[in-house]
Amino acid sequence: MAEKIISKFFDIRDSHTIDVYMKHGGYKTIQKTLKKMKPAAVIDEVLKSNLRGLGGAGFPAGRKWSFIPKDSSKPKYLIVNADESEPGTFKDRYIIDHFTHGLFEGIMLAAYAIGAHQCFIYIRGEYVRQAERLVKEIEAARKRGFLGEGIFGSKYDLDIVVHRGAGAYICGEETALLESLEGKKGFPRMKPPFPAIEGVFGCPTIVNNVETIAYVPAIIERGAKWFADLGCERSGGLRLFGVSGHVNKPGVYELPVGTPLREIIYNHAGGVLNGKGLKAVIPGGSSSPILTPDEIDVNMDCDSLAEIDAMLGSAGVIVMDEDTDIVRALYVVTRFYRHESCGQCTPCREGTGWAERILKRMLDGHGRPEDIDNLFRIAGNIMGNTICPLGDAVALPLKSYITKFREDFEKRIPVDGAGASKQRDSLMLLN
Ligand SMILES: Cc1cc2nc3c(=O)[nH]c(=O)nc-3n(C[C@H](O)[C@H](O)[C@H](O)COP(=O)(O)O)c2cc1C
Repeated sequence: MAEKIISKFFDIRDSHTIDVYMKHGGYKTIQKTLKKMKPAAVIDEVLKSNLRGLGGAGFPAGRKWSFIPKDSSKPKYLIVNADESEPGTFKDRYIIDHFTHGLFEGIMLAAYAIGAHQCFIYIRGEYVRQAERLVKEIEAARKRGFLGEGIFGSKYDLDIVVHRGAGAYICGEETALLESLEGKKGFPRMKPPFPAIEGVFGCPTIVNNVETIAYVPAIIERGAKWFADLGCERSGGLRLFGVSGHVNKPGVYELPVGTPLREIIYNHAGGVLNGKGLKAVIPGGSSSPILTPDEIDVNMDCDSLAEIDAMLGSAGVIVMDEDTDIVRALYVVTRFYRHESCGQCTPCREGTGWAERILKRMLDGHGRPEDIDNLFRIAGNIMGNTICPLGDAVALPLKSYITKFREDFEKRIPVDGAGASKQRDSLMLLN
């Protein structure tokens, strides 16, 4: 049977407790590391493992850690991004629920590697039960001397603080998260400076996704080569694919990076519900471009998806059966991003609203001949013209849904050109 690293804990009773985690070998790696490994060696191991960030952008974790300035006298911080707000994404919740101390051990290793003594877990406001679990288990670890001053009897101090967000998608973007953590409104910052140089409170900061950090103990315990060999050429290891939508067995599947999408849908998630045909698949959370049934032989790694102008993002796979209304699906996605746009950048703030209104009009049977081209134009005007990539998160779906399913959109334009009398007004509005 294929290797499982994190998900083997999902089926173990009380796996979130210290005792059960330790019964399965937990906390041995950090103790050995504190005694035998220098921080630079930990970074080197993670670098060689080809662990890529699993929060969305896929940046190599070890490389990011190596950017922390060695000569800075400022405190360094580790932030674990548990905002998990991208529609279709629910893997981090499983990790927090079932691999709680595995996540803490990953935090200990990562914080030690970058020289941080303070870690913040930034968790979305809606994850109330998960936040409570984290706080309770941090306290349990503190009582045993696994956190606090001189962890595990070493000279290394570390503490973890759980910070709850207020339910804003934008606060998952790392610089908006930093602002929010500092008590300000979650407006993304211009980069550079990147957080590794100037992050929270103006100090060097590493922001990593929950899942990225959760894989670190296995890498240090079993070695970079072992982990790298589990995945594909430039992306090591396994990752958790969250599969939802019209499938027989929705859930979280831990599989090698690079597993073909077809295999994920048909072998692991049990195929399309009620034996229906496939209409489309979102491969990596709602911000990724959509795929047609002809494209599902793609390997699920960042590079293979980029080759077909898609993205792996958070690996949240959303399956749509043959009866899905693609125009409505795009409307729902666009409405989400319009609602979650922080409003800081005009193209995103205004463009998402315009696109939503046009799509709503099409759904209501009042589509106009120029609507499709205007949606495309709006997407082009947002793309790359905003401080953070939330704008791209709506522009990419807009472009791909329309390009790949143009006929579905055309069908929403009444043949008699209803609404044509209003064409002039609409063009003026959009120009
Ligand atoms: C609008 C937006 C929302 C994001 N939301 C999340 C999120 O909920 N969780 C997450 O880990 N990364 C999220 N990201 C990516 C983070 O900015 C950042 O790249 C990530 O936390 C880095 O961790 P990693 O390198 O381990 O993937 C988001 C990015 C954008 C642009």
